[in-house]
Amino acid sequence: MNNPTAKASIEKLETYKPNFGKSKISNLIRLSANEGALGTSLNAIKALNSFTHNLNRYPPQVSDDLINAIANRYSLDYKKIILGNGSDELISIITQAFLEPTDEAIYTEFGFLQFPQAISVSGAKGVVARDVNFTANVDNILSKINTKTKLIFLANANNPTGTFISKEEVIRLHKSIPSNILLVYDAAYSEFIINNDYIDGSSLVDKHDNVIMLRTFSKLHGLASLRLGWGYCSEYILSNLMKVRGPFSVNTAAMLAGIAALEDIQFQENSVAHNLEWMPWFEKELKLLKLDFQTSVTNFLLIKFPDEIFNNAQSAVKFLAERGILVRGMDAYGLPNYLRVSIGNEEENITFIKQLKSFLDN
Ligand SMILES: Cc1ncc(COP(=O)(O)O)c(C=O)c1O
Repeated sequence: MNNPTAKASIEKLETYKPNFGKSKISNLIRLSANEGALGTSLNAIKALNSFTHNLNRYPPQVSDDLINAIANRYSLDYKKIILGNGSDELISIITQAFLEPTDEAIYTEFGFLQFPQAISVSGAKGVVARDVNFTANVDNILSKINTKTKLIFLANANNPTGTFISKEEVIRLHKSIPSNILLVYDAAYSEFIINNDYIDGSSLVDKHDNVIMLRTFSKLHGLASLRLGWGYCSEYILSNLMKVRGPFSVNTAAMLAGIAALEDIQFQENSVAHNLEWMPWFEKELKLLKLDFQTSVTNFLLIKFPDEIFNNAQSAVKFLAERGILVRGMDAYGLPNYLRVSIGNEEENITFIKQLKSFLDN
């Protein structure tokens, strides 16, 4: 008797493994997932603490309160906002709603790994556009477009490289693609970025119907565990995504905490200031350690280890984990000699650099 078989496109796929790292040490320093360095807004924690009744009730399918809070905070059109169970869910439902198995979807060489994963799950063909200097390259993306291209994923700024392309380049990209191609512009780290030549993509969405901007509460707002993300897109795109999204995929706790986190402007400003204070410190310390890294506008850094020493980055990940510090090895991105570290709090950052130095001295 034959057993049921999964779709061919699923059978050949590997499960996506976030790989936050492992350590036997109980008091861990976790710098492996680009989470917020300052924890969570007390406002959000208070909202969660008072959420003790109606646990037996389903959440609303759509939280108008949270959507209005997002629209107010970022001066956006509430009719174009869709909520998701993390932006990961939105990435996934975009591919399900828009990609036919005969379609192609472009993603960038060192782009966020969920993009090729979601494309493969949909059954469509993923097409890689080479980066230049660990940065997405508009010409390389454009060169991959053909009549089968349906969608382009661009994380700006990108994880794990920490690099971004300028407003001018984003606009050039958008202008050069046919209007039937959907540009998925993932701005997960936008709140950290203060550069004048950066855009988060919302202005493109306001003017054009073939762009969706993705955002998350997992990074700046420190709510990764509640799984809350949102998208900004035309009402046509939104209504089609809602047909695929689970009706109750965003839970009530996430809705309450999300609203409270958005109101806590001080926490958001402190988090951005913390990042801006520690990023140059990391850069200085890494230079002292003679390690190469990508200049990053995000809350993490991609560090390169000297090639000469065999398996250097992987040994560093292990060495650090044994001392209770989790960082992310980059093998899955095809960069075995690199590691990615998130900016943590003061004590975590100092401990990380101290232990990294001790690894390199060994
Ligand atoms: C570029 C990018 N997009 C999306 C996500 C996923 O965010 P969420 O926690 O909202 O699913 C991440 C998380 O690391 C990310 O780096």
